[in-house]
Amino acid sequence: MKKFSLLMMLLATAFVSFAQEGVAATEEETKVVIPEPSLGITTTELLIITLLVFSIILLFVAITLYKSFRVIYQERLNPTPYKTKEDRRLEYEEWVKLNGEKPSIWNKLLSLKPLSAEKDLEIPHAYDGIKELNNPVPAWFNVLFYGTLIFAAGYLYYYHIGEHGERQDDEYKTEMAKADLAKQKFLAKSASSVDENSVKVDPSQIAVGKGVFNANCIACHGQNGEGLVGPNLTDEFWLHGGSVKDIFKVVKYGVPEKGMVSWEKNMSSANISAVTNYILSLQGSKPANPKAPQGEKYDPAAAEAVAN
Ligand code: HEC
Repeated sequence: MKKFSLLMMLLATAFVSFAQEGVAATEEETKVVIPEPSLGITTTELLIITLLVFSIILLFVAITLYKSFRVIYQERLNPTPYKTKEDRRLEYEEWVKLNGEKPSIWNKLLSLKPLSAEKDLEIPHAYDGIKELNNPVPAWFNVLFYGTLIFAAGYLYYYHIGEHGERQDDEYKTEMAKADLAKQKFLAKSASSVDENSVKVDPSQIAVGKGVFNANCIACHGQNGEGLVGPNLTDEFWLHGGSVKDIFKVVKYGVPEKGMVSWEKNMSSANISAVTNYILSLQGSKPANPKAPQGEKYDPAAAEAVAN
């Protein structure tokens, strides 16, 4: 019982450190954008598992307590009579006989022979009166043993002689190179990501922006931005401001209550920046069938004066 409680204590400490690791992993995930390899379970799930294990232990303890109380109770009602040495020997011999007739799973697994068969196992020699028994090694053990030899030979051939697989240090290098690549990719991506504070007027993006506009926006803003459901994007009048930042913001966040979609989730920030630049390039293009101006007139010079 002492051993058992020790085991449980060890299990509990292991679980606590396990849980802390999980928490640390999730904390790290919020800071670092490259997802760290984690346990794949949330703190809540961990809590549930801990509670489950705890309740199983509790059940086990309850059953043990119940059984011992029952034994105590029965012993009080009719105590087992005290056994003499003779009685006990008899019992042991009965047990041996029973065991000899029907080997238990344990005995079968270990290829143990019953004591009664000992005479047949004796090897005919004795040293200082000590006899040796011929107890064969169990078959499964032999299979395991020779299996490891065969595996080792295969391993040696595959990794060291044939050099078919990567060895540990090479594998480490490959993994590091992979991680480097992922890091570069990530850095390149974060460098190309813009938001409403860093977006700039950049005529080189207009061509890309036109493609983005044609693919996503003409249904509501017209073939040339003259306006349909959505407002005219070619005049100087804007509902939400005509600066590069204003336009970027409207495209990114949308005006959902007025029917303008938020594109944040379906479009990269680079594409939003490109389409913003395309819209700016439409200023004064005077397309056919323009929609009547909406909103206020935006004067870049005046806005700049205010900003400065
Ligand atoms: C489902 C129709 C719809 C689609 C698709 C749509 N828009 Fe709009 N857009 C609107 C409406 C409606 C408004 C006016 C919102 C308001 O009244 O505040 C608007 C407003 C805008 C404005 C602000 C105009 C101003 O006067 O301030 C910009 C800029 C804009 N859209 C750009 C785009 C771009 C770029 C796309 C494609 C990526 C796009 N829209 C796709 C319906 C749409």
